Amino acid sequence: MKNIENQNYWTQRYLEKRTGWDLGSPSTPLQTYIDQLNDKSISILIPGAGNGYEAEYLYNKGFKNVYIMDISELPLQSFSNRNPNFPKEQLLLADFFEHTGQYDLILEQTFFCSFPPTESNRLAYSKKIDALLKPKGKLVGVWFDIPLSGNMENRPFGGDKKMYLNYFTPYFKVHVFDPCYNSIPKRGGQELFGVFVKK
Ligand SMILES: C[S@@+](CC[C@H](N)C(=O)[O-])C[C@H]1O[C@@H](n2cnc3c(N)ncnc32)[C@H](O)[C@@H]1O
Repeated sequence: MKNIENQNYWTQRYLEKRTGWDLGSPSTPLQTYIDQLNDKSISILIPGAGNGYEAEYLYNKGFKNVYIMDISELPLQSFSNRNPNFPKEQLLLADFFEHTGQYDLILEQTFFCSFPPTESNRLAYSKKIDALLKPKGKLVGVWFDIPLSGNMENRPFGGDKKMYLNYFTPYFKVHVFDPCYNSIPKRGGQELFGVFVKK
């Protein structure tokens, strides 16, 4: 999908309020992970952040080096309205696949599952995450553990641990990649929590 078509697609979904992915609060597995982080100076990117509840949680806990990125302006505006003190220069209206930068930590929450699940898209995601991480940087997040339906319109696009590892192991060492014990009830049994470290 071309950049502008992708942007229009997501903006339309926000306009029509077809945002079933939006939890209205930080994802519990990510919140639990954030709660055990000690170094508040690390640089953190949340790509495809939508309403950015995890960024809000981080910022309010004292992590000031947090960047949220989305291809659609609407969720970034909502985020900014809710968090007027969050630095505007840390709101990135950009296409993840074109972004350049270097981060200690990248947080994944229903972004990977949102783009068409082709081999080339998924490999491009891993390659880009790798490029955006500093040496020893980490990719941490949740991935849906649900079968791929074959329908290329019906999000979220799933997969399983073995399939995801094909894309991740060329770039990252796997520290953790296990079924979530702390998903919200409606996602129970459907999420894998992963911590991957840049090789
Ligand atoms: C399924 S939503 C998830 C939003 C958020 N992570 C959450 O869990 O609430 C996917 C998000 O990725 C954004 N997005 C899609 N393609 C993108 C791209 N290439 N670069 C940056 N953001 C993108 C969409 O605008 C949308 O906000």
